[in-house]
Amino acid sequence: MERMIGRVLVIVPTYNERQNLPMITERVRAAVPEAHLLIADDNSPDGTGQIADELAAQDDHVHVLHRPGKQGLGAAYIAGFRWGLAEGFDVLVEMDADGSHQPEELPKLLDALADGADLAIGSRWVPGGKVVNWPGSREFLSRGANVYTRVMLGLPVRDATAGFRAYRAATLEKVGLADVESQGYCFQVDLTLRTARHGLRVVEVPITFVERTAGTSKMSRKIISEALLRVTVWGVSGLPQRLRRPR
Ligand code: GDD
Ligand code: MN
Repeated sequence: MERMIGRVLVIVPTYNERQNLPMITERVRAAVPEAHLLIADDNSPDGTGQIADELAAQDDHVHVLHRPGKQGLGAAYIAGFRWGLAEGFDVLVEMDADGSHQPEELPKLLDALADGADLAIGSRWVPGGKVVNWPGSREFLSRGANVYTRVMLGLPVRDATAGFRAYRAATLEKVGLADVESQGYCFQVDLTLRTARHGLRVVEVPITFVERTAGTSKMSRKIISEALLRVTVWGVSGLPQRLRRPR
């Protein structure tokens, strides 16, 4: 059965996720059986790419994009979006491989698109949103990053760094991907900002983010510095316009 919003592609970027990939694939396929899955693997040294190929061989709804090496979450998603747009999908979903984004909550995001959102964000920091098993330091980082982002960019979004999202294909086409340079997790903020600046409708849906139980996070000091630097630059360069047109 097709949803009112059309054909859905769930993009899952992977880097060393061999312990998680079969689990997330099974859960996505069970939760939203009509959706297709694209695994965007950066030539993981642990053999995640081979596991992806095996999963794809067993299921015509599973696809694999092999990338030459670790080039960051943003680059993997842009390649995945391009693949999905070329294949004619109507909705492109972002989801982590480690189970933090629960596939069982994806229908809520798709419903938000059906109700008129151009981008639906699965948000940890709106009422009803939760985080399970995160160390205090990580919660502090995420909350801090979001406060800084909101103040610097004037974005009316509580979880601009969230990685569980559903975009309409039309949103990505309007926003354009050609000049997106963000490589790490600030890619999420980058696309949120571009979507909002195009006057498109961003809706946050509360989710429960569950910290991974297998494998390790790829968050690094380099990813944090890229985000801090870029958000600061976007904030300062957008300031004259915000002062002229206060919201
Ligand atoms: N292909 C590819 N290339 N995949 C990557 C890369 C990369 O360079 N870096 C990370 N990934 C994949 C991981 O394998 C995982 O599936 C997903 O991206 C998220 O990576 P994690 O390392 O598990 O992220 P996290 O849990 O620390 O961070 C979460 O919170 C961030 C901040 O709110 C994620 O939800 C991020 O998307 C989010 O921005
Ligand atoms: Mn994670």
